[in-house]
Amino acid sequence: MTPRLGAGFAAAYGREPEGVWYAPGRVNLIGEHTDYNGGLVLPFALPLGVSVAAARRDDGVLEVRSHQARAGVTAPIDGGTVVSEGWPAERAWAAYPVGVARVLREHGVGGASLLIDSDLPQGAGLSSSAALECATALALCELYGIRIDRPELARLAQRAENEQVGMPCGLMDQSASLLCKAGHALMLDCRSGLSGQVPFDPAASGLALLVVDTRASHALTGGEYGTRRAECEAAAAALGVEALRDVRDLAGALGTLRDPVLRRRVQHVVTENHRVEAAVGLLRAGAVAELGAMLNASHLSLRDQFEVSWPEADAAVDAALRAGARGGRMVGGGFGGSMIVLVPAEKADRVRDAITAAYARRGWTAPEFLDAVPSGSAARITAS
Ligand code: GLA
Repeated sequence: MTPRLGAGFAAAYGREPEGVWYAPGRVNLIGEHTDYNGGLVLPFALPLGVSVAAARRDDGVLEVRSHQARAGVTAPIDGGTVVSEGWPAERAWAAYPVGVARVLREHGVGGASLLIDSDLPQGAGLSSSAALECATALALCELYGIRIDRPELARLAQRAENEQVGMPCGLMDQSASLLCKAGHALMLDCRSGLSGQVPFDPAASGLALLVVDTRASHALTGGEYGTRRAECEAAAAALGVEALRDVRDLAGALGTLRDPVLRRRVQHVVTENHRVEAAVGLLRAGAVAELGAMLNASHLSLRDQFEVSWPEADAAVDAALRAGARGGRMVGGGFGGSMIVLVPAEKADRVRDAITAAYARRGWTAPEFLDAVPSGSAARITAS
């Protein structure tokens, strides 16, 4: 990828890039829709991500081109917000790097020319947007010699997505891209920002973790994500707590809330936080296989209480369990994207075949299976 980016950059901009930076996508093991409720998440980084070749320019402009997009975009970094400028759909991908540059401008970042390449499927719920934001953020900070620690850089990238792109995401994806460590999952407390590395090596326990791109593509800038977030905030306000993380007495909270929709949302968020804690305990105890039950409970809760699952994910979980998986669940924001399956290694092929067959029976586009090796975080990948 790097030679292609170097040559591509020279062809596009008529000079060499000053460096190439990379940031990975993520899979969340457990802790879904907890991040913006001040809660806990447990993602790990994928061995797939976004690379950015970059060089400074002195005209206050960010010019971005991508091997995955037909047209480039040029935008001043001292503009307002991308969302208020109402960019047309074909420029939408560039809102992420431009948004990051505009947020980092307050910290001293200037203009740059960028060329982007990605081996992460887009719309697959694997955080290709956060990877693009984080690779851009690292590149710009390093080009301009600006030191921002990684937890703070994750918050700035999240802010870019919230304010500039208009997607009210939480802190998980950017933190995963910037903080994960190979062979580990990242336990992140999204309220305090504190995180810890939890060893996660399914293969050492005779297990495989499959990532399945369900091929139902999602677009989180669509309204459902924002609706869920607003429902959680309404429930927290009705319960008199700052965030649903603070609900200690679930039965009491469910008794207080009149709206059945809000009751279901609270049920999910509160139990999901407990599942993250339980999952961390199981991993630390070396009981990786027991994680399967947590994944199943999380999926049912996301399907029935939070109502963000989708037919392809439900069918894949069902087929996987019938074929001998220990557990499985949808990952990410929902309404499309990917799911994960924890399976004894010797049954992995059987589970893959069962999911593929379940899709074929329904006439759906075949799913894709990715490598789920817990990998390292964002980094500079070339000196020049
Ligand atoms: C998306 C968001 C994250 C998080 C998940 C759901 O990936 O970007 O912040 O809320 O959905 O857990």
